[in-house]
Amino acid sequence: VKEIRQTFTIQFDYKVLFTESVFAPNNKVFENLFSGQENVSVGFVIDSEVDKLHPELEGQIKNYIDSRPHVFSKYASPVVIPGGEHCKNDPWILELVLEYIEQEKLDKHAYLIAIGGGAVLDLAGYAAAIAHRGLNHVRIPTTVLSQNDSGVGVKNGVNYFGKKNFLGTFAPPHAVINDIRFLDTLPNRESIAGMSEAVKVALLKDPKFFYWIEENASKLYQREEKALSKLIYDCAVLHVNHIGKNGDPFEKGSSRPLDFGHWSAHKLEQLTHFSIKHGEAVAIGLALDCLYSTKTGILDKTECDRILSTLESLGFELFHEQLLGQDAASVNPNLLEGLNEFQEHLGGQLTIMLINKIGSGIETHDMNPEIINECVMDLKSRATNEF
Ligand SMILES: NC(=O)c1ccc[n+]([C@@H]2O[C@H](COP(=O)([O-])OP(=O)(O)OC[C@H]3O[C@@H](n4cnc5c(N)ncnc54)[C@H](O)[C@@H]3O)[C@@H](O)[C@H]2O)c1
Ligand SMILES: [Zn+2]
Repeated sequence: VKEIRQTFTIQFDYKVLFTESVFAPNNKVFENLFSGQENVSVGFVIDSEVDKLHPELEGQIKNYIDSRPHVFSKYASPVVIPGGEHCKNDPWILELVLEYIEQEKLDKHAYLIAIGGGAVLDLAGYAAAIAHRGLNHVRIPTTVLSQNDSGVGVKNGVNYFGKKNFLGTFAPPHAVINDIRFLDTLPNRESIAGMSEAVKVALLKDPKFFYWIEENASKLYQREEKALSKLIYDCAVLHVNHIGKNGDPFEKGSSRPLDFGHWSAHKLEQLTHFSIKHGEAVAIGLALDCLYSTKTGILDKTECDRILSTLESLGFELFHEQLLGQDAASVNPNLLEGLNEFQEHLGGQLTIMLINKIGSGIETHDMNPEIINECVMDLKSRATNEF
């Protein structure tokens, strides 16, 4: 047998930087991303809500670039795309960004800078990954969720065939810049929704971080800036370390620890036609899987209570009527379908993350529908104060 074999390794390296007012004339954070380079071409994709609520932004970006001719030789005026999940559902919006790259002649060496919520970043990141087989990409996340979780990772994607993230790639960004000032315009609901991923990662990896969240829940709910910045920073650190150090940055295995609470969350998002936000669904999913952990004897009940109360203090509701079937007396059979879909999405054996104590995850390959039913009924009782 003739055989040719080759092996190669590619090193990835990117920074997540924290700043305020990234395009203020004297802020060097953005410029420094290109240190040592000249003739840099940049194009910008901006979330429509961010563009609307920060009317000075486009002008600031242009001035910033124009005043640094020693670095930038080409500036393509921004393309503004609708923010929110809708952009990932509509293939024409992906087309619009690809067209922008083509018409503005942004080549492989150019940088596509995306400014927006997780949905816009996912779409722009995907466009950047597939155009010319990949041009450079910088993310500037503008929601709590994207600053602490989705924007700092290595994935992108859009929804296709009605399925979330059906198309997508693993493509580490050139850099990520978290600018706290963007959060000033974020609606309360979005700010709250962004915090469940921090609770999740704390529960899996860092008990101290969880206790800090528990202690500061009301400050976080009120969006006190110092507390919110710490939550975002600590969550981003745990997230980025997980990607770099868990040995599976491109998720080749069937286990995905950071998907704790997500099997039901993804399904619930779908069952509510996305009327609840990802982060809100994740809070319910975490509550469900914590109760499940307790009912199967692996998590202490007092710890479970602390987790549920903390989520509530952060502003989350832990019940949604779509958790119930039509009889309103037992779990929605469609919710249970979420287990199969979750397995299908990851491939291989069903692997669900539970926790055995605050700060420590444990995997199971078998979820009992009757116990899930009990958990759902508990959440219902809790919501109607029957406890
Ligand atoms: N790539 C990943 O690893 C990863 C991980 C988790 C989630 N995600 C994806 O992230 C998306 C959710 O992201 P999200 O929670 O940021 O929500 P989002 O992108 O849907 O944004 C929520 C809303 O806030 C608006 N908005 C954005 N920034 C704003 C600001 N500063 N002020 C006012 N309004 C603003 C948006 O226009 C939108 O209407 C989902 O599509 C999810 O699948 C991706
Ligand atoms: Zn999530």
